[in-house]
Amino acid sequence: MKAEELIELAQEAMRHAYAPYSGFRVGAALLCADGTVYQGSNIENAAYSPTNCAERTAFFQAVYDGHRDFTALAVCGGKNGEITGFCPPCGVCRQVMREFCREDFVVYIAGPKGQYQERTLAQLLPDSFVL
Ligand code: THU
Repeated sequence: MKAEELIELAQEAMRHAYAPYSGFRVGAALLCADGTVYQGSNIENAAYSPTNCAERTAFFQAVYDGHRDFTALAVCGGKNGEITGFCPPCGVCRQVMREFCREDFVVYIAGPKGQYQERTLAQLLPDSFVL
């Protein structure tokens, strides 16, 4: 699957965001090794800290369904669903990715006007902790 197709699915996932507190809508699309794609959005909470990020929503659904082998993830976000800049994954999501992905896992960080940044997990989370 091309980066652009995965990014399109991440953009679609933004529409599923539950973000009444920040208004910042995030979408993610996770490509499994077998070609399956899981989408996720951020799901906020009145107590703030229980909020789940879009990336983790996608990962947790995929892992629940038995997937353990992942190829790439696309993520995008913006205030009121408008993509005006890049939305790199937060630190917690990077660590969750590392639980299930090798350091060569690819993350596409989509921005405005079809632009995207391509990063490996090693770049996003150097010297990572794994057991
Ligand atoms: N958010 C994500 O969904 N993914 C990230 O990697 C960064 C932040 C969400 C959490 C919260 O609902 C909103 O963006 C503002 O922080």
